[in-house]
Amino acid sequence: MIKLQLDDIIKEVDSLPGMPTMAGKILSLLKSRNISTSDIEKFVLMDPSITANIIRLTNSPYFGLSSKVGSIRQALVLLGFERISHLIVSICMKTILDKPVEGYDLSPGDMWLHSVTTSIASEMIIEELSMEYNDEVFTSALLHDIGKFILGKFIKEDIKAIEDLTLKDGVPFAEAEQMILGFDHAEVGALILEKWNFPENIINGVRCHHFPESSLIKDDTVVDVVHIANFLALMIGKGLGRDGIFNIPSSMVIKKLKLKPLHIERICSKVIGWVDEFNPLLGETA
Ligand SMILES: [Fe+2]
Ligand SMILES: [Fe+2]
Repeated sequence: MIKLQLDDIIKEVDSLPGMPTMAGKILSLLKSRNISTSDIEKFVLMDPSITANIIRLTNSPYFGLSSKVGSIRQALVLLGFERISHLIVSICMKTILDKPVEGYDLSPGDMWLHSVTTSIASEMIIEELSMEYNDEVFTSALLHDIGKFILGKFIKEDIKAIEDLTLKDGVPFAEAEQMILGFDHAEVGALILEKWNFPENIINGVRCHHFPESSLIKDDTVVDVVHIANFLALMIGKGLGRDGIFNIPSSMVIKKLKLKPLHIERICSKVIGWVDEFNPLLGETA
């Protein structure tokens, strides 16, 4: 086994396409809280295909609107600018997240489906538990596994040993990565987002999504929600790859969020409804 060096791996970050411009602009406006409905409308109207998709999504049977929506302004009023912003960011990030991931057995579309499912799950957790809304949770959930794109290129020789630990000894996948490689895909993902100058909380949510106990930020909602959202997305079984094999949610986070089986049941059924309804529509934007 060749010992992988995190520094060598991270040099590969330049091979990833940059953050799509529109997604970057919307995320920074959301972060600064300096955003209005007309800002979003202005951005969306610059891109005819996103405009068409947002209107189509709003008119989908999921929302059961009695009359047809014909403009971005109406869509913003009916769905709210936060949800519309998230839809736009998801659509923009599809170009990056839609690719196959070597090493992790993820076919084209798998990573995107898992990422979108996790981001939707994060919104539903916040809604179900009546938590304070936080845009950083959504972004961190959407990008939580981005490290796999880089690490997947390097783990071909080690994947058998990682899988053996998981399948034979019941070691969770990310823990097996740490045991064999000395780090996991979450650490690589965090380094990618550091290179892209993301805010600290989003990076921390990505870095600790498998090990929320390791977070150095105290009482961090982002880490807790992304951890549970990832677990639920894996449980639902959307876009599974190799690390869908064995996952356990943190009892510390479950206790902290006061998450009960009934919450999980309700969140999962909403997430499945959302993903089944929206994924085919979002897929048409590729
Ligand atoms: Fe992960
Ligand atoms: Fe994941």
